[in-house]
Amino acid sequence: MTGLPPTPAERAIRRRIARHGPITFAEFMAAALYAPGGYYTRTTAGVDYYTSPQVHPAFGALLAVQLFHLWTLLERPRPCNVVELGAGDGRLCRDILTATRYLPDGFGDAVNYTVVDRRAAPGWEQGMSNSSRAVADALSPDSDNAAVPAPAHCVLSNELLDALPVHRVRMEDGRLRELYVGLGPDVADGYEGALVEVSRDPSTPALQRRLCDVGVALSDGQTAEICLLLDAWVKATAARLESGFALTIDYGRPASDLYDPAQRPHGTLVTYRAHRQTDAPFQDVGRQDITAQVDFTSVESAGRHAGLIAIGNMPQGWLLQRLGLQTIRRNGPPAGSDVSGWQILPAGPEGLPPDALPDNVASDSDDGRAWLTGLTHLARPGGLGDFRALLQAKGVADGSAALALSWLDGAPADHGYTPSSLASLIPPEALRLTPA
Ligand SMILES: C[S@@+](CC[C@H](N)C(=O)[O-])C[C@H]1O[C@@H](n2cnc3c(N)ncnc32)[C@H](O)[C@@H]1O
Repeated sequence: MTGLPPTPAERAIRRRIARHGPITFAEFMAAALYAPGGYYTRTTAGVDYYTSPQVHPAFGALLAVQLFHLWTLLERPRPCNVVELGAGDGRLCRDILTATRYLPDGFGDAVNYTVVDRRAAPGWEQGMSNSSRAVADALSPDSDNAAVPAPAHCVLSNELLDALPVHRVRMEDGRLRELYVGLGPDVADGYEGALVEVSRDPSTPALQRRLCDVGVALSDGQTAEICLLLDAWVKATAARLESGFALTIDYGRPASDLYDPAQRPHGTLVTYRAHRQTDAPFQDVGRQDITAQVDFTSVESAGRHAGLIAIGNMPQGWLLQRLGLQTIRRNGPPAGSDVSGWQILPAGPEGLPPDALPDNVASDSDDGRAWLTGLTHLARPGGLGDFRALLQAKGVADGSAALALSWLDGAPADHGYTPSSLASLIPPEALRLTPA
């Protein structure tokens, strides 16, 4: 507890419960994150955790390499409409567009990049000549159809799905119950009581249906999160594509693993404030992020129903290594980097090995170390490297879809490049750390 007064979001939640009774956790999470005064309406949203674009610009640069390849498989549309959903502060857009300028065949000029976020605040995408921001709900493309070019050739997202509101359920005496949010008995002045968990019958049969669909039976006493909005996201993404790809990066697991009672008896819901992870969603409501791991089995199966065929689901570390992470590392950091103000991430047991500094980085260079540590973190097992990257295709010939990932084996594609030969075209100057 911070002892700070309740945020407007928390007050509104309490008023609503006091008037109408307990609300589902999904309603609570939507209000705590996105209603007026909620976490994502704050100008400081996003400073409480690290996402890959915040950790190192090589993340975007390497995704640009993959996008170049997908563009050629789609026969090089001009413009090539890239739509990034839940783009936050726009860093990924900035990093991808910066890298595309160094890629061949006029790819940089072809890309037309739109970031979509509920957040109105313009970010790093500002000032990039071929980008724009649409302030819209990414789950309802109708709300942005004037602002987002259609059809999209690639729909991208990084850590959007883990930010979608989830329902919480628990198996009690063989019955599936839903965990609602209510007010405790200590209501003092109408709505200032403590927020508490209330177990009731599920608000919708869709919760039980989802567990059946993924072949999961919860054990007695097990708590789990279910994100019903995944279906809306899948439909919206499929609707944006005619012939193209969806690349979705997030932390999550197949359902059999996510709902494993031995590994995750209490579910995966966590909260972040000032880089501290807790599991106390009723504290600091509106001042902390709330998130849960993504059920990739449901994303893939909902995708199939919507015409999105999964062509690969791999760890982020594996993908980035294959796309040329080592090439970028060998090329080293930009000369004269000033990373003062850049928070150097702890190296950790799997972090920067002692011999990790390339020849062109002086061993006493903090800047070089910060740059390399960030780069290493992108692929670190047990951290960002374990995030999943799901590539889906819609309306793409089977042969082309198969080639979308097979080039990661390192053989040159028809366009004549391997991933690392493309990565080597991106100079260190394009990979400068830029603190917030
Ligand atoms: C965890 S942040 C990730 C930001 C960014 N992609 C990154 O990697 O740094 C989640 C972002 O998704 C946005 N978001 C959540 N739900 C959304 C929705 N339905 N439509 C559009 N944006 C959404 C939030 O505003 C926030 O900026």
